[in-house]
Amino acid sequence: MTSSPLRNKVAFITGGGSGIGAATARLMAADGAAVAVAGIPAAGVEQVAAELRADGHRALAIPLDVADAAQTAAAVARTVEEFGRLDMVVASAGIQLHREDVNLHELPEAIWDRTHDVNHRGVYLTCKYSLAQMVKQGEGGAIVIVSSVTALNGRSANPAYLSGKHGLIGLARHIGVHYGRRGIRCNAVCPGALERTPNHDDHPDPTGREESLAARIPLGRLGQPEEIAPFIVFLCTPAAAYATGAAFVIDGGLSVA
Ligand SMILES: NC(=O)c1ccc[n+]([C@@H]2O[C@H](COP(=O)([O-])OP(=O)(O)OC[C@H]3O[C@@H](n4cnc5c(N)ncnc54)[C@H](O)[C@@H]3O)[C@@H](O)[C@H]2O)c1
Repeated sequence: MTSSPLRNKVAFITGGGSGIGAATARLMAADGAAVAVAGIPAAGVEQVAAELRADGHRALAIPLDVADAAQTAAAVARTVEEFGRLDMVVASAGIQLHREDVNLHELPEAIWDRTHDVNHRGVYLTCKYSLAQMVKQGEGGAIVIVSSVTALNGRSANPAYLSGKHGLIGLARHIGVHYGRRGIRCNAVCPGALERTPNHDDHPDPTGREESLAARIPLGRLGQPEEIAPFIVFLCTPAAAYATGAAFVIDGGLSVA
């Protein structure tokens, strides 16, 4: 008999159309969860949800710009309308505007604002509307926020990305502290450098990036989304019942080298 540890659980995953979000959606669905795959572009989330349904899982595609409050509220409501409840949330949507790796004193306000709109405000909105549903249900829940090793020091050349990812660890701590008595846990994960970054195709020098990072990573290579997703899923299971308000690093040793 196949084990289905997430049977009867419902997940809402932003950034679910690719990378870490898609890998997490696949694992959660395989473990028996119903999964709302949310994000932009619409084609990405529709393709992942269709793939999951073709494999016999319960999945729903929700085109969503997480920076838009009304869309995010509606996406959570649509998930509950379709699957009846909400138990697990993964906030993985994110952008990294590589061509704007510039000194802070030269950083255009528009780049700062767009990065924070998606990476910080988008996670706030995702958590806000998901928490409202979890509080209403009164049966707890688990939230995983995808931060980054970039949040562990001041090294990144992209100040907007760096500060947003730092803020997400603070948000996970806040939710962990203030919703623990309701049985709602929230943790951050800090992935290291993966082979594909967000907005990878806009990177001015992907080969140079890969070579310089691989040289610094103790395991000698960049990571894959499938090496991050199992940690996210674990944090949503009862086996992680005592973990909240924490930031878990999965980075091949990059941050300690
Ligand atoms: N890839 C890495 O090296 C790396 C390292 C550390 C942290 N992260 C973080 O992991 C998360 C997932 O990134 P990934 O590596 O899977 O890359 P990815 O680009 O495959 O995933 C990000 C997803 O978010 C979507 N998205 C972008 N803007 C959105 C918006 N406004 N609303 C909804 N969806 C939007 C993208 O289309 C994409 O599907 C991101 O938050 C990223 O910052 C990635």
